[in-house]
Amino acid sequence: MHDFQYRQSELCCEEVPLARIAKEIGTPCYVYSHATLVRHFRAFDGAFHTVPHIVAFAMKANSNLAVLRLMAREGSGADIVSAGELYRALQAGIPPTKIVFAGVGKSREEIRYALATDILMFNVESSDELRTLDEVAAEMGRRARVALRINPDIDPKTHPYISTGLKKSKFGISADRALDEFKLASSLPHIEVVGVHKHIGSQLTDLSPFVDSLKKVLTLVEALRAQGTDIRYINIGGGLGITYDDETPPHPDDLSAAISPLVKDLKCVLIMEPGRVIVGNAGILLTRVLYTKEGDAKRFVIVDAAMNDLIRPSLYGAYHEIRPVHETSRAKIVTVDVVGPVCESGDFLAKDRAMPDARPGDLLAVMSAGAYGFTMASNYNSRPRVPEVMVRGGEIHVVRAREEYADLVRGEVIPEFLR
Ligand code: LLP
Repeated sequence: MHDFQYRQSELCCEEVPLARIAKEIGTPCYVYSHATLVRHFRAFDGAFHTVPHIVAFAMKANSNLAVLRLMAREGSGADIVSAGELYRALQAGIPPTKIVFAGVGKSREEIRYALATDILMFNVESSDELRTLDEVAAEMGRRARVALRINPDIDPKTHPYISTGLKKSKFGISADRALDEFKLASSLPHIEVVGVHKHIGSQLTDLSPFVDSLKKVLTLVEALRAQGTDIRYINIGGGLGITYDDETPPHPDDLSAAISPLVKDLKCVLIMEPGRVIVGNAGILLTRVLYTKEGDAKRFVIVDAAMNDLIRPSLYGAYHEIRPVHETSRAKIVTVDVVGPVCESGDFLAKDRAMPDARPGDLLAVMSAGAYGFTMASNYNSRPRVPEVMVRGGEIHVVRAREEYADLVRGEVIPEFLR
């Protein structure tokens, strides 16, 4: 459930007509619903009330400071993958005691920063990384808390680009080698092993991969405890899917019903890293139709947003519903490609989509764009990145300004010899 609904044929975010946002802020822009964000976080967090847990919001899905501050207020931690994300999380007031750091390629610099801020733990993905972490921690006179990320070799049945828990994937340590890696970790003086981590992929719409991979992790936890390694945290990653089209993903309550009984008696804190399920349907990309064009083979609706603003359709062939901001009965249903101004044939927001015929000037809402929308945006074709707006009831808050042309060249220098 989200708060983008029609009121008298006008698509609104909470109490604000999207047309008003287009008028005041311009298009394209991202619009987030405060109420939806809060409800989604609480639904997820609340679902796990019977087990001690930390929700570490996967901020790669949406790292706007206002969104992060809201998460912090709701009690969320953060799953980070870079020092830049750590910086943002701290700026937003997320407590370091709830920050976990994943990723296969943490640099010494990043490790140093994270140790200095005393984050909860590193999710370590290789023995090289373990040794580096040990060295950096030694230099700083600290001990690094770690969870080893296990690759459970479970097919999450999602898009190959967002599946991470298969043998051929770069992520994690294979379950077979895990015991050895844990031995290595325990032998390093500046490493404190505290947990096991796994994350098998994103946009999962089935519970079984969650359960199967957790069972593999639990077998490992048992073995580790038997060899004297005290495991205090089990991190099951993120990945719960959302409805973009006609998917019927499990509710967080269903996930909890499947997971909680398995971990309840383990005397562990359960860590979860949801991203998409919290923010995905809490945001849209608002765009205006510039032109329509009848090609020889297709009809095109050319809008002012493009693949640099929302790359998911181009990159994954992802489906995003596109709704007219003004519902009219006049519009007949036509099949079109919705494309942007970027100079790439791959620049589309929808392909062969049957939708109400749009005219120049019409506003369209690209739905379910709150996750991996703005965070994956670029300046390709020297297009300034679009603003982000948070709506709360009847209020409109610009939480990131539209970039200006000067922002496009910030940091660039024409060397003396070219002047
Ligand atoms: N934890 C880890 C270690 C992750 O790598 C990810 C996502 C998450 C948690 C959060 O997953 P979520 O709950 O959002 O599914 N750009 C792609 C998604 C990439 C996901 C990368 N990792 C997309 O637009 O679909």
